Amino acid sequence: MNNSLVTSINELKKQKNAIILAHYYVNGEIQDIADYVGDSFYLSKIAANTDADIIVFCGVSFMGESAKMLNPNKTVLMPDIDADCAMAHMCEVSYIEKVRKEYDDVAVVCYINSTAELKSYSDVCVTSSNALKIVKALPNKNILFIPDKNLGHYISKLVPEKNFIFNDGHCPIHNKILSKHINEAKESHPLAKVLSHPECPAEVLEISDFIGSTSEIIDYALESNDKEFIVATEVGVFHKLQKDNPDKVFYPVIENQICKDMKFITLQKIYDSLLNGTGEMNVSNECTETALNALDKMLVLGK
Ligand code: 13P
Ligand code: SF4
Repeated sequence: MNNSLVTSINELKKQKNAIILAHYYVNGEIQDIADYVGDSFYLSKIAANTDADIIVFCGVSFMGESAKMLNPNKTVLMPDIDADCAMAHMCEVSYIEKVRKEYDDVAVVCYINSTAELKSYSDVCVTSSNALKIVKALPNKNILFIPDKNLGHYISKLVPEKNFIFNDGHCPIHNKILSKHINEAKESHPLAKVLSHPECPAEVLEISDFIGSTSEIIDYALESNDKEFIVATEVGVFHKLQKDNPDKVFYPVIENQICKDMKFITLQKIYDSLLNGTGEMNVSNECTETALNALDKMLVLGK
């Protein structure tokens, strides 16, 4: 790690009353200097309650957008403003409008991995760690789940009393992990437990020992008496897994479980953005007004 850069970042943070939030998918050296590291739900709660003047969000655009909408009067800096989530764009507003016309009693449930625009057409946001709780709490029989088909299908199996309408979005990283890859990994590591993120396809979830958000996978591994794990999510989580469990071994399922956009974030970019205020996130007032309802509802129902 570049110690002088880290010292300079810490000095700037103090001077400017800034905090650094980092998702578990960014590089380990970024996680190590962050004030808060977590899954999407945890980070959005931190962003909603901070007293800092500046939030430096080490993650992808939808995370920065949500932090900005929850804090319209604060400055949200993205060390790399081009870091984006492909899935966040994988739904059309016209599709939401069409489904709303077809079903009277429909709730549009929007995974937080979505653009601010999609959130503004939705009734409530969810993350992978609170989706089940929130969907169950909704009075509506019909649920349009956007944009992730895999998380949507996973939740639908757990809430059979509701009628789900799906959308065809997916995470390109999780969606390429298949059951044949899990089976191959199990052959190489027969004692290992399989821990999977619900963005993986159903065929993977069906043969997993545990399904959860990034934080839930980390908590599970820490509490488990098992010593070996096959982990079906982005490789950034291995940093925390290995740090917490030096006596345990973690295996990826395939070689490139990598979200390249999360890896855009570097210490130098964090320093530059704190120093110069570059990468400032802005969301239009019009979008914020409506999208904020869906985010606020998540924070209330997900408590
Ligand atoms: P978590 O909610 O588990 O942090 O997941 C975020 C994400 O981008 C998964 O791909
Ligand atoms: Fe989006 Fe997938 Fe990257 Fe998560 S891992 S930020 S869902 S592209």
